[in-house]
Amino acid sequence: MHSVSAADSGKRISLHGTWSSRMAFILAVTGSAVGLGNIWKFPYVAGENGGGAFVLVYLACVFLIGMPVMMSEILIGRRGRRNPVATMALLGEEEGHSRQWLWVGGMGVVAGILILSYYSVIAGWTLAYVVKSVGGAFSGADAETVGNIFGSFVGDWRLLAVCHTLFMALTVFVVARGVERGLEQAVRVMVPALLILLLVLLGYSVTSGSFRSGVEFMFTPDFSKLTWDSVLAAMGQAFFTLSIGMGAIMAYGAYLPEETSITGASAAVVTADTSIAILAGLVIFPLVFANGLNPADGPGLVFQTLPLALGQMPGGAFFSTLFFVLLSFAAWTSAIGLMEPAVAWLVERYQRSRAQAAMIVGTLIWALGFGTVLSFNLLADLTFYKGTLFDNVDHLTSNIMLPLGGVFIAVFAGWIMCRNSTADELGNTGTAYKVWHFLARYVAPIGILFVFLKAVGLLDWVAAAFG
Ligand code: PFF
Repeated sequence: MHSVSAADSGKRISLHGTWSSRMAFILAVTGSAVGLGNIWKFPYVAGENGGGAFVLVYLACVFLIGMPVMMSEILIGRRGRRNPVATMALLGEEEGHSRQWLWVGGMGVVAGILILSYYSVIAGWTLAYVVKSVGGAFSGADAETVGNIFGSFVGDWRLLAVCHTLFMALTVFVVARGVERGLEQAVRVMVPALLILLLVLLGYSVTSGSFRSGVEFMFTPDFSKLTWDSVLAAMGQAFFTLSIGMGAIMAYGAYLPEETSITGASAAVVTADTSIAILAGLVIFPLVFANGLNPADGPGLVFQTLPLALGQMPGGAFFSTLFFVLLSFAAWTSAIGLMEPAVAWLVERYQRSRAQAAMIVGTLIWALGFGTVLSFNLLADLTFYKGTLFDNVDHLTSNIMLPLGGVFIAVFAGWIMCRNSTADELGNTGTAYKVWHFLARYVAPIGILFVFLKAVGLLDWVAAAFG
């Protein structure tokens, strides 16, 4: 591990180079944030948790917890300029506390590996759907046909394994070459194109006849439907969609030039990410109702609603191909972020080349991915706690590991780092700084812990025991 004295902290440079511009950084972080989480996960998790009230809690979590944690992560990353494990150790020591903060980075490395193990499988579905779209599989198809196509696809574990393998190979390839090369161009084209296509689809869903029901489902909060488990799911979704709580943004922050505004960059990313998720919901829920589908249908929701809509549109095969190509790209630029903490750590800690590190981490993730591949077919009946193996890995990572990582990151930036260090990185001591400091110190950690305790029923148990 590298130890750098406090004296050179201001001039510390990253071992992996820096982003060529402020825009390059914003694009990379946006690329990592915008992914399957916005278009695949947000609608089905919102659907499973009853819509409106869930969406409201999700938005509150994004702005009151997500944004300050993202800023904390970037500032920690830029100050340490190392992989998340080494950065936490270094800053822990430098701020006069302890090297043991490295475990926060360590948990992030593990979370990234676990998340990518299933993320890659779902990304593999999008690759397969590109091929199906090209072949015109959805042209003119009705809800039942599209449902059957999905069912028989996920039922075939060999096919899922092939798609998962292909996607992991693509990810390893980019990570091995270094984060910056190619990524910038991909994101620059992909995010605006995705936005435009979603707007086109929105035009279609407005005319679907059920636009109103879709909007009402999403925005009319019915708090009686909200359980503490749904609140936990909303918080987990906020962390997942913003790529925070696991060091990915910290790793990206390590390559950030000194002069870039962390507050401005975070605001841009959070706005882009949230808009795309809401837009995806506005496209998908009206289609769900127009076609008599169930919003609580689970991970297949997007793969059953969008092909249906696209199949009815003029030029459907073309638009459907374009949509799944863009979604694959979005997943690709996110997967890179998921691998980055582990790869940067291996490179620095064991002096591996990036290519070697990417191969090692990629192979491990690929093997773990079989847990998810089989969750949709051979092992579909093997359920415990939250459901299948996939459901449990998802719950453990999104709803527990990421928010827990967020608590530690917020506490570290808000309490362990001195005001001089954080004000130095955030570039001011005005109102924006004060708001961030308050959110990072109190709102984020207390909010997250409160939701945890409520979700496992511990608070009620204590109240009952003493009340
Ligand atoms: N934010 C990504 C998405 O919404 O699809 C998922 C993700 C990417 C999470 C990178 C964490 C990460 F480091």
